[in-house]
Amino acid sequence: MILNLPLNIPALSPASPQFINLYTDAVPGQAPGPVQELSEGLMAAAASVSPKYFYNALGSKLFEAITALSEYYPTRTEAGIFGASHAQIAQTLADRGIHHPCLIDLGAGNCAKAMALIPHLQPRQYVPVDISADFLKEAAEQVQSRFPALDIVGLGMDFSAGLALPDEVQAHDRVFFYPGSSLGNFHPEQALQFLQHMADPAQGRARGLLLGIDLVKDTATLEAAYDDSLGVTAAFNKNLLLNVNQLLQSDFDVRQWRHVALFNAAQSRIEMHLEAMHALSVRWPGHTRRFEAGERIHTESSYKYTLGGMTALLKQAGFRQVRHWSDPQNWFAVFWAAV
Ligand code: AVJ
Repeated sequence: MILNLPLNIPALSPASPQFINLYTDAVPGQAPGPVQELSEGLMAAAASVSPKYFYNALGSKLFEAITALSEYYPTRTEAGIFGASHAQIAQTLADRGIHHPCLIDLGAGNCAKAMALIPHLQPRQYVPVDISADFLKEAAEQVQSRFPALDIVGLGMDFSAGLALPDEVQAHDRVFFYPGSSLGNFHPEQALQFLQHMADPAQGRARGLLLGIDLVKDTATLEAAYDDSLGVTAAFNKNLLLNVNQLLQSDFDVRQWRHVALFNAAQSRIEMHLEAMHALSVRWPGHTRRFEAGERIHTESSYKYTLGGMTALLKQAGFRQVRHWSDPQNWFAVFWAAV
């Protein structure tokens, strides 16, 4: 049905979110930009590319598809924990005098996890942060139409380079929301440093952290989650090469690469690699890199923790109060860590 609305009456539109894109190449005097970082990683004897380069617009959509796969248990398990515990979680924050936090959502993606939490935590400000800036901007608009009165500041940002946030982000009662086990992409020493930065007055200046972490479990379950039968994770992994082609002006041919996912039990991490199916060369301005048949590019490490191991890491990082909620199988856990 078509409604004939008079054109001179403005529609009641919700406020639009603020959006600040800080993700640009090579800011002088700052950390090396994507071109240098990618080039160095690909020229190394053991080639690697950081998993943050999965997330261009298509990569964010492919990750969203992964979260709907039956093999990929983390997203639905975490949602179940939040669903069962949001009242207790909100009370835990309230007990520390945090009633309307500034909720900073790291790697917010489609913002689905935050949208489920916002009615319970009732943040004064919501700050979704993601390297996939265009995808995030659309998601932030969705959040705004669902919560028209909420103050939203979207940030396109590579937060792995630091947690210093612009002045638009409220300094008072900041709570970091870092769900989905994305902390697991850091090596444990980097994870410790990142956690320490959260509370640092020059960086995150947080009062606390709500963290989702995947737990160690049997190898078959872990490996199936990263090598699904439909091949969505394989496409997600290979799409990294398309993003690299765009950023680096390189000439990777995705058809020459095979998806590999394995659990490295000694290091307690899932590893994803791209393996050259035959000898080949990749070129980009100023460089040529030869790969032998079977040679790999390491694209992701996803560390799996134990409840005790993560509790110890959070305490070591300087958090005072640490508690957690988990599912009945102990497959995944949500931690609250207060500064
Ligand atoms: C978003 C980093 C948590 O490690 O499970 C999913 C990314 N990689 N499938 C993960 C991912 C392959 C995901 N994190």
